[in-house]
Parts: sequence; C-alpha cells; structure tokens
Amino acid sequence: MERLQKVIAASGVTSRRKAEELIVNGKVRVNGIIIKELGTKVSSSDEIEVNGVLISKEEKEYYLLNKPRGVVTTTSDDKNRRTVIDLIDTDARIYPVGRLDYDTTGVLILTNDGEFANILMHPKNKVEKVYMAKLEGIITGEAINKLKDGVVIDGVKVIPSRVKLRKVDPSSNTCIVQIIIHEGKNHQVKKMFSEVGYSVEKLKRERVAFFTLDKLKSGEYRKLTTKEVAKVYSLAK
Ligand code: URA
Repeated sequence: MERLQKVIAASGVTSRRKAEELIVNGKVRVNGIIIKELGTKVSSSDEIEVNGVLISKEEKEYYLLNKPRGVVTTTSDDKNRRTVIDLIDTDARIYPVGRLDYDTTGVLILTNDGEFANILMHPKNKVEKVYMAKLEGIITGEAINKLKDGVVIDGVKVIPSRVKLRKVDPSSNTCIVQIIIHEGKNHQVKKMFSEVGYSVEKLKRERVAFFTLDKLKSGEYRKLTTKEVAKVYSLAK
C-alpha cells in the first residue's frame, strides 16, 4: 500500500505537491469515490482518477542515453525532427528528465516515473550537472571569477559549484571549460558564458548526479539498475 499522492506523482501526471492540492480540492477519485484526505493508502488494484482521467499503471522504466547532436529533447516535434524518444526501443510513455539543446550531447535520463524525475529536477535536491563547454576564444581568469561570483540568468542569480579551465587551443583560439551547475534553466550554460562574453561552440553533459556516460557511445543507451533507481530516491531531501 502506498500513499495516494505518491502514487499520483509516480504516474507522471503531476508533482507530489500538486497531487496533494488536487486531492484536497476533490479532484481525485479512488474506485469512483472522491477522496480528500491526504495520506490515504491505495494498492495497485485501486482505480485512481485525476480530473476524471484514469492514471496509468504502466511498469516504470528508466534509461540513460548518450544524446547525440541533432536530436530534440521532447516527446514529439512539430517540425518532424528526430526526438530522443525515437532512439529508445520501448512502448512505455517515457519522457526526458530536463532538457538538452538540439546541438548538446551527453547524459540524458528518460523515464515514465514522475516522482523519480521530480527528484532529479527539484532545485532543493541540488543535483549536480557537469558540462564540458568548448568556447570561442580563450576565457580569462577575470571571466571565470565573474562566473564563480554568480551571473544573473532570466532574472535569477546562478552560482556554479565549479568552473575550471581544462584545455586551451591557441591555434583554433578555443578552450574547454568544465562547469558544474545545480539548476536546469533553459540554455543555462550558454547564457552563463554569454553573460561573461563568450559563446559556446560545443556543449557536452558529462554527468547528472552520479550518472556518467561510461562506455555509451553517441546514441547508445542502457536501462538503469534497481540500485541506481533506489539511489536517486535516496537523494530526495
Ligand atoms: N545549458 C545549455 O545552454 N544547453 C543545454 O543543452 C544544457 C545546459
């Protein structure tokens, strides 16, 4: 038996907090009866409706993909471009956890477990995302210090937990910088470098929480282990 709000969140329809609101507001039925009490326990044989729609009891699936360039991080695309979902052989209604730009490569988690996704994305859990950015130009110490002090993106100050110059290539006038952030704002890394005067030529995500690419080649994926899934659940604060 599980708590009703947890089951709703795990189905992916909404977050646990929103599920609680829906329950209190009388929008949730269990076996046809409106339940307004938070914490009501339900079992897998109970039929749960949210706003009149039966929630799915699909088996939970979890994947780690090495996202290639030229693929959109959505479940469908109005321009008919290839999506990350097209790369994974499953009938489950999985979706990407967070976003990588069309031209960004690297670690992307996909699942149909809403609660799991929320843990990885919720700012309070401060999940680390490690990026390697190839910049046009060679970044100065001053620009690195500005980043370390925090820059304002979309009206919010963001402070990376690490910025480190990894490689300099004077012949192509480029450099590679490792940056670790906790948030997942749209185009965050590109905007952060732009704030200090640099444009990102290439961007690769090397790690999310403890998930790294290991031996996955571009476009390859693997299922997460039950141990890894449990470890993500243990990150929830
Ligand atoms: N930051 C970006 O600018 N792009 C990404 O794809 C991910 C983080």
